[in-house]
Amino acid sequence: MSRLTSREICLASRPSGIPTAANFTLVWTEPAPLKDGEVLVRNLFMSVDPYMRGRMNEGKSYVPAFELGKPLDGGAVGDVIESRAPEFKPGDVVTSNFGWREYFVASPGQLHSVSREIQPLSVYLGTLGMTGMTAWAGLNLVEVKAGDVVFVSGAAGAVGNVAGQLAKLRGCRVIGSAGSAEKLRFLTEECGFDAAFNYKAGPVLEQLNREAPEGIDVYFDNVGGETLEAALSAMRVHGRIVACGGISGYNERNPRPGPSNLFNMTTKRLTMKGLIVSDWLDRRAEFEREVGGYFRAGKVKHKETVVKGIDQAVGAFIGLFEGQNVGKMVVELA
Ligand SMILES: NC(=O)c1ccc[n+]([C@@H]2O[C@H](COP(=O)([O-])OP(=O)(O)OC[C@H]3O[C@@H](n4cnc5c(N)ncnc54)[C@H](OP(=O)(O)O)[C@@H]3O)[C@@H](O)[C@H]2O)c1
Repeated sequence: MSRLTSREICLASRPSGIPTAANFTLVWTEPAPLKDGEVLVRNLFMSVDPYMRGRMNEGKSYVPAFELGKPLDGGAVGDVIESRAPEFKPGDVVTSNFGWREYFVASPGQLHSVSREIQPLSVYLGTLGMTGMTAWAGLNLVEVKAGDVVFVSGAAGAVGNVAGQLAKLRGCRVIGSAGSAEKLRFLTEECGFDAAFNYKAGPVLEQLNREAPEGIDVYFDNVGGETLEAALSAMRVHGRIVACGGISGYNERNPRPGPSNLFNMTTKRLTMKGLIVSDWLDRRAEFEREVGGYFRAGKVKHKETVVKGIDQAVGAFIGLFEGQNVGKMVVELA
């Protein structure tokens, strides 16, 4: 009988600046035969995420760096093909951290069971997965409440659009920034944002002041840089900032100096809290109940950009830094 073959993507060299295809290699492997207590999974979708860029650098961070010559990893959703563990049977759908490959062998503790009834299954990488949970955790972190004026950057992306939709459900006025006219339409017409502006079309502070003349109570920061500086200037007294991401700096060879107006933290008595979604894993069931309920009731939409084939995964990842995605960027593998 012929052995199962699988393709996976390895890190060939550490990128300097924006990653290129030359930093990665696609290799063929043969998953090892199953031992007792193991499960064979075929990935259906894998996630590409901006945080993976940081893992391509050398050095210590909150997640270990990817190793040269080894396969990358990250979120994925797949079908159980074969199981020698009582916890799973063929046909079960599972999420895992074994992305960037077509097949893998794992132990039950490395898999999380999800329902096949919710479609598309890629929703478990987006609105009902890590990025949706990041949005939900960020709003809880700074206790977003009815009446708050909330500004979300990177708003048309995976975290941003869900953060804005959930803030609307809490009774907030929500403003988003994103990088194209298509994205602004998505935010106001599909996600219910009250206003949206293109951060590339003019100075961010000017545009933010136009949409929020009385200032903002909450800033959900996905991008850092000029937008964070503008938000600091637009914050009201006792405003709160969710420090979720800083994609505008992820490919910088030399970190840029921080905001020139940080003293707003003092004069306005602001709070800025850092968020790492994995700190919230003990509240995953609560997130799944709450946001899963909104999703099933049609109150939260899931938007995604789907790229097909593992050979296109590197391009999908690089595309995140070029704004090629609306909603969650995922790669369909099977
Ligand atoms: N703290 C955590 O636990 C956690 C968890 C998940 C994600 N994050 C962070 O949250 C942020 C959003 O992640 P995501 O998964 O939802 O990604 P995403 O927003 O779906 O995709 C990235 C988007 O960022 C925008 N972008 C790219 N370069 C930019 C730049 N120089 N300036 C401003 N915007 C730029 C692009 O949209 P435009 O067309 O609008 O430019 C692009 O579509 C990232 O910073 C990520 O690292 C943090």
